[in-house]
Amino acid sequence: MLLFSLGIFLGLAARASSLDNGLLKTPPMGWVPWERFRCNTDCKNDPNNCISEHLIKAMADRLAGDGWKQLGYEYVNLDDCWAADKRDAQGRLQPNPQRFPSGIKALADYVHSKGLKFGIYSDMGRMTCAGYPGTTLDTIETDAKTFAAWGVDMLKLDGCFSNSSIKALGYPKMSVALNKTGRPIAFSCSWPAYEGGLPPKVNYTLLGKTCNLWRNFADIEDSWDSLFHIIEWYGKHQDTLQPAAGPGRWNDPDTLIIGDFGLSYEQSKVQVALWAVLAAPFFMSCNLRTISAEARDILQNPLLIYINQDSLGIQGKRVTKSHYFEVWKRPLINGQFAIAIMNNGTDGTPRPFVTTLGLLGILDCKAGYKIYDVLDKLFMGAYKLNDTISTKVTPTGVILFFLRPLC
Ligand code: GLA
Repeated sequence: MLLFSLGIFLGLAARASSLDNGLLKTPPMGWVPWERFRCNTDCKNDPNNCISEHLIKAMADRLAGDGWKQLGYEYVNLDDCWAADKRDAQGRLQPNPQRFPSGIKALADYVHSKGLKFGIYSDMGRMTCAGYPGTTLDTIETDAKTFAAWGVDMLKLDGCFSNSSIKALGYPKMSVALNKTGRPIAFSCSWPAYEGGLPPKVNYTLLGKTCNLWRNFADIEDSWDSLFHIIEWYGKHQDTLQPAAGPGRWNDPDTLIIGDFGLSYEQSKVQVALWAVLAAPFFMSCNLRTISAEARDILQNPLLIYINQDSLGIQGKRVTKSHYFEVWKRPLINGQFAIAIMNNGTDGTPRPFVTTLGLLGILDCKAGYKIYDVLDKLFMGAYKLNDTISTKVTPTGVILFFLRPLC
């Protein structure tokens, strides 16, 4: 009897403390300002690019008007630098009045009127990373209620200006407070990024019960070096990171920087291919008003998005790594696979890569597989397990294959 009661107690306790909000069964997709627009608050001299309701509305217009929304890019989020320097007389966060004159509720309403979702940013600490008021242990419930009243659909909670013990209390407390509002609010936690991203300091089981997604490594910047550094960290620590991901709980290697200034066309393909194989959030951070047709074509590739959004939600893994090549593999629903072959060499010439399905460890369907080159939009043909697959991969480039079994 005692054991039975204890079981019930533990069961209830687990339920009360777990996130269990039913959200983000596939990785979230959308747009966030941070990597591209940073903390630009100079609306006087740069009215079109400063962090303001004008910018957010403009991006919502583009998401809804240029075919993004239909493909699944549905969140338009704020990041840092939206808040006023002080809380209001009731102790609530409030937006900067010059840059958000209509208030956040009206902005969320506008985003919703376009059929999109709206996300906001705060920080589990005294101040946000850019120095605006943060969420302290005392204000968690107020802030959760404020966000819910505004119609927020996602909260990113950063981790500057606090310590490990405050974060260990604060993130689970916010998770419960968000659930208590009764409004479905997806919860993005930067918690592990501030604890080195690895056990024993990071408990990925607890994270999966507390947050829907989490940043666990360095901020992405607009360069190949930054992108490659993140990919390598994900590869090196995949045995820890891979099991943590699944429907409703995602590793977040940070935003897509395609359409910005730093990546070549081939390097842009590397980021989407790897992010699709990693089941990573597809949050763009670029200027959707001026994005090139080339970048847009990469980001709007339906087969690429199909892979990213696979309902099994299994994060892919790096299966081989040699001097030049890395092969990454993600199992998908119905015996399908995605394979990314990346050439990380920088020596200027496309390099031949010859393999077979069998060598790639794809052995389930003896009849073979149809192979599609996702990013070049080509059907390669049907291959038996021992047939030679011969391709060339450009330096700092990738080939992304989609495999459909013939069984
Ligand atoms: C941290 C986060 C970034 C961004 C900035 C904002 O660096 O990791 O993603 O939110 O803060 O100041």
